[in-house]
Amino acid sequence: MRNFLIAGNWKMNCGISATTELLNGIKEITTSLPKGVDGLVCPPSISLHAAANVLQGIEGLSLGAQNVHFEDNGAYTGEISTQMLNEIGCEYVILGHSERREYFGETDKIVNAKVLKSLDDDLKIVICVGESLKERKADEHKLRVRKQIQAALTAVEEKDAAKVVIAYEPIWAIGTGETATPDQAQEMHKMIRSVLEGVFSQKKAEKIRILYGGSMKPHNAEELLQQPDVDGGLIGGASLKADSFTEIIDIADQLSS
Ligand code: 13P
Repeated sequence: MRNFLIAGNWKMNCGISATTELLNGIKEITTSLPKGVDGLVCPPSISLHAAANVLQGIEGLSLGAQNVHFEDNGAYTGEISTQMLNEIGCEYVILGHSERREYFGETDKIVNAKVLKSLDDDLKIVICVGESLKERKADEHKLRVRKQIQAALTAVEEKDAAKVVIAYEPIWAIGTGETATPDQAQEMHKMIRSVLEGVFSQKKAEKIRILYGGSMKPHNAEELLQQPDVDGGLIGGASLKADSFTEIIDIADQLSS
């Protein structure tokens, strides 16, 4: 019922030539993603235009940005607007990644402003949430994630539910090689869906995709994607190689058919 979404967050990797090379590498492996899987790549903003050109030759693989500002335009040195993303051909934008929250001071309030602006300008959004190791050890992880989602979705309208994707990324699993166990992921994803049911109607919440992120690799993707509320992955390191990224897409395809 929910198509898998396999998304690559390239973070601060791949300038124009490396972007073109990586996407051409994917194109050599496949020019059309399997029906049951939607793909997404999110290169750095400077490489989005180059990426858009190559992506025209890969069916089913969309383009996304890693961040956006919440104002239309103006004196915001270094920032990029939603309209700029529209113009360049972005369909998605990642919002509230833990690295943005930690290193760039993004608060729940800022994330919410970006969510509202992006939806207004017709971008699909991938809202990232997740707890620290300290919060998990203190058994505060569910509360933390619930609050992040409720804050991010404040004032979001029911009509925009179809444009929302949530990515659960436990901070302790990002770039560490340590993943949440399938049970830990499912437990959190199930709770996230119940939070979404409080924000939107149950019917809409059922359709929202909840991705897992944090050291997802070809060797652990199957057990995570098998969980009933895990609808895809937000992949960092393993999305930077054409073969590992397409391998995860193939795993999702096998599970969906
Ligand atoms: P890794 O897959 O490298 O752990 O990164 C996950 C992530 O932060 C994706 O947004």
